[in-house]
Amino acid sequence: MHTEDRLHLAQLPTPLDHADRLSEAWGADIWIKRDDLTGFELSGNKVRKLEYHLKAAQDAGATTVITCGAAQSNHSRATALAAARLGMHTILYLRTPDGKGPEQVWGNHLLQRLAGAECRFITPAEYDERNSIMEAAALDIENAWVIPEGASDALGSMGFVNAAHELAGQVEGFQGHFTLWHASMSAGTTAGLVLGAKEVSLDVDIVGCAVGDSAEGIAERVRSIVGSRAPDVRWSINDSHIGGGYGVISDEEMKVQAEATRLTGLLFDPTYTGKAIYGLHQEIANGTFGPDDTVVFWHTGGGFATFAYDWSRFV
Ligand SMILES: Cc1ncc(COP(=O)(O)O)c(C=O)c1O
Repeated sequence: MHTEDRLHLAQLPTPLDHADRLSEAWGADIWIKRDDLTGFELSGNKVRKLEYHLKAAQDAGATTVITCGAAQSNHSRATALAAARLGMHTILYLRTPDGKGPEQVWGNHLLQRLAGAECRFITPAEYDERNSIMEAAALDIENAWVIPEGASDALGSMGFVNAAHELAGQVEGFQGHFTLWHASMSAGTTAGLVLGAKEVSLDVDIVGCAVGDSAEGIAERVRSIVGSRAPDVRWSINDSHIGGGYGVISDEEMKVQAEATRLTGLLFDPTYTGKAIYGLHQEIANGTFGPDDTVVFWHTGGGFATFAYDWSRFV
């Protein structure tokens, strides 16, 4: 475990629960790693990575953190709320289609603003330049710390190296090999899990379910963090279930997401965990997984984004 360089903001360990009714209905042995329970305001995977970045920010004497994401970004919400807890100011560069503030202040964006974050809206083209925009902003501010998108770099990924250690203790009773299925985008979650699986010698196939970008794009980000450190860990990015793209959700996807809630009592946000649970559903339907296959679905949180969609046709 790598615990010396982090704050303790998340409620850990999170449980690993067997999804009895989902397994029965969908036809595979499904377990759910409950990172939706890392906290309430800080729920989800991001807080594991922020524990490292915010410690480094504090050690560097930073009083402002700067980060970025979509307007409904869970990472930006978790950063703003964690920084509020620590008494730090937050600046968020948030992507919107026209670079203007969203009309509806709901879901994660509501919480970013409630936490007092300074929201600066940028277009998708500007977002492509997010790293230089954030670095330039940091030069103008005394004691600022820049956290990359999703806190997905070598430092943030340490949170998921630890998470793999945590899981290893929970799967000791498993008979043989299993698949670890999770939503993947900025890739720090996948990269950390790959590095952690190497450290604890997990007999696992790690599959990141792409929610927006291509498999190759996400895999490149994973490789940029992992390098040559885990050559024998089996991992892949599956981009077969992106559908209409990032944040674009079809009726079929929402129907399966709602069904998953009815079969587990858990929330699946349409953008991340919902796309991933839909992808898992499709893979089971295609025969990739059957009743004898064990799949751990890493629930990466995102519950607040559930409240930024119109579910009226599915409830
Ligand atoms: C709820 C949720 N799940 C999964 C992810 C993907 O994690 P990563 O960006 O580390 O690939 C995100 C990233 O924003 C997220 O908010």
